[in-house]
Amino acid sequence: MQLAFLGGGNMGRALIGGLLRRGTRPEQISVGESVEAARTSLARDLGITATDNNLAAVENAELIVLAVKPQHAASVLASLQPVLKRNQPIVLSVAAGIRTAALETWCGAGIPVVRAMPNRPALVGAGVTGLYASTHVGPAHRAAAERVMQSVGEVVWVPTEEALDVVTALSGSGPAYFFLLAELMAQAATELGLEAQAARRLAVATLHGAGLLAHASDGDLARLRAEVTSKGGTTEAAVRTMDAADLRGIVSRALEAATHRSRELATQFGM
Ligand SMILES: NC(=O)c1ccc[n+]([C@@H]2O[C@H](COP(=O)([O-])OP(=O)(O)OC[C@H]3O[C@@H](n4cnc5c(N)ncnc54)[C@H](OP(=O)(O)O)[C@@H]3O)[C@@H](O)[C@H]2O)c1
Repeated sequence: MQLAFLGGGNMGRALIGGLLRRGTRPEQISVGESVEAARTSLARDLGITATDNNLAAVENAELIVLAVKPQHAASVLASLQPVLKRNQPIVLSVAAGIRTAALETWCGAGIPVVRAMPNRPALVGAGVTGLYASTHVGPAHRAAAERVMQSVGEVVWVPTEEALDVVTALSGSGPAYFFLLAELMAQAATELGLEAQAARRLAVATLHGAGLLAHASDGDLARLRAEVTSKGGTTEAAVRTMDAADLRGIVSRALEAATHRSRELATQFGM
């Protein structure tokens, strides 16, 4: 399949790198990217030729990945309407918050649109992406979009567009929650007497190892936690303190706030 990227920044580049690692050939990928330095580094690091002419980039594309900042999506797509109408490619948007209805309007009638909400670990091939497409997008188009996002990690389809706001709150913003927790743990350990550099390394390695263990298991997080929480032990003392401070309530309110904010932001770009 011939692919085009509109925007070869952080996310576009991560996806291109993932696709190349999985066997897509450089000549199957074209990129429209307005920043010269980004075009140069795509050529130097990945052997991809990028152009500042988006029309030329999408000319032969069967699937177009929209990877510009959300505020640029409308103008980028609207300027391509004639070629989209002629070629009828799939449009896969990773632009946060831009609703399907808006994308369909900017692309023109009949273009199959798939929305993706990836997260930052995609940059190291360990992302997870929430995917949504309306019911008139067929299985072949869904599978093509899925293959692109799988190049940087796992994919999870959600049944409604509203659910993508919850995905944004969970896995989109989620890496920051884990970074915050690791940062606070390292800080607390420093206050308890550990040297700062050692505390940071221990916190980061614990984050990494716990993630690997959770990923390798059947996904029952409560059981995994129970396995490191012996009765009367140190972990139990810590978890009891967290429970007393209503950590569950805090996390619940935090995800609610992020979901709400995602819906609010969508109305800025949306229709
Ligand atoms: N990075 C993440 O972790 C992440 C996670 C989830 C979703 N996303 C989504 O992915 C999209 C891209 O994010 P990013 O982090 O990759 O942003 P980015 O690094 O800024 O990349 C976007 C690139 O597109 C360029 N561009 C702007 N207008 C263009 C146009 N008209 N034609 C061609 N290229 C154009 C930008 O140039 P300028 O700098 O001049 O604008 C920039 O180089 C966003 O919509 C974001 O919501 C990103």
